Amino acid sequence: MTILQKYLENSGVCEDLCKIIVLIADQATSIREAFIGNQSHADSTNASGEQQTTMDIWVDTHITRILAKSGLVHVIASEEQDDITTFSSSSKYSVVMDPLDGSSLISVNMCVGTIVGIYNGDILQPGKNLEAAFYMLYGLMTTLTLSVGRGVAIFALNSDGVYQMLEDNVQIPEGNLYGSGGLRMEWLPKHSKFIADIEAAGGKNRYSGSFVADFHQVLKYGGVYAYPSTMKSPDGKLRLVFEVNPIGFLAIQAGGAVSNGVSNTLAIAPAKVHQRTPIYIGSRGMIEAIEKIHNA
Ligand code: AHG
Ligand code: MN
Ligand code: MN
Repeated sequence: MTILQKYLENSGVCEDLCKIIVLIADQATSIREAFIGNQSHADSTNASGEQQTTMDIWVDTHITRILAKSGLVHVIASEEQDDITTFSSSSKYSVVMDPLDGSSLISVNMCVGTIVGIYNGDILQPGKNLEAAFYMLYGLMTTLTLSVGRGVAIFALNSDGVYQMLEDNVQIPEGNLYGSGGLRMEWLPKHSKFIADIEAAGGKNRYSGSFVADFHQVLKYGGVYAYPSTMKSPDGKLRLVFEVNPIGFLAIQAGGAVSNGVSNTLAIAPAKVHQRTPIYIGSRGMIEAIEKIHNA
């Protein structure tokens, strides 16, 4: 059985980076326990103008406190915090996070997760510079899907509190699942054509409302998750720094692709920490198809 610590050691990951990954991953049990007492909405909105749940705030506060205390992190930016916060100047690592992705599904007990990206240096770097990216999924099992730039591995938290490997070198199959956010009546013609083509080829619709869970399905079965540019929201909904870049990095490491419809989002240098971007992510053939439609 390969456990998380051993995997990180064998991958030659530097000691402080290992510690940050393990420290955040070890919060999964406390996070799971907090769901029962945090089933409601808060009276506040985040920097994206979205109403927060008490669980969004709980996870954000919890992980931030743990990282602040650790002395391992230089800078942190979170979907739930307006500003970038600086902690230990002796560390070189920056952490970006979506503390709880899919939070509209908390009250219906569907799968949600925590998304994390780690950079050496600044926060506002293109996603291709990530040193590590991972997400924890609070599903039937608590799983950790991780890349330190050497492919993608999936671990599950066992009853001894140890992350044991389920799968290494995960590769996205071509597949034919598709899920798209945004109201169909607000989709733009190129996106509608992309979806119509998939449907005409027998594609199967799967969309839960939790990006991290929907991506995990695409990672295993192949296909595409999209949150496109729409008439009302030209920049789509998902955030480049907190959601699209860490998961995009994992997609590339699993032999897949990520795009804003026109080109690879991992090449974009973010101008603002909360900026949004349209996203298409999944198997290579799917991403080639949408880029071909856009660039025709
Ligand atoms: P978050 O819970 O972090 O705000 O993210 C929600 C995102 C993403 O997880 C999901 O795919 C999408 O928003 C769902 O949006 P719709 O409800 O518009 O489909
Ligand atoms: Mn999210
Ligand atoms: Mn969130």
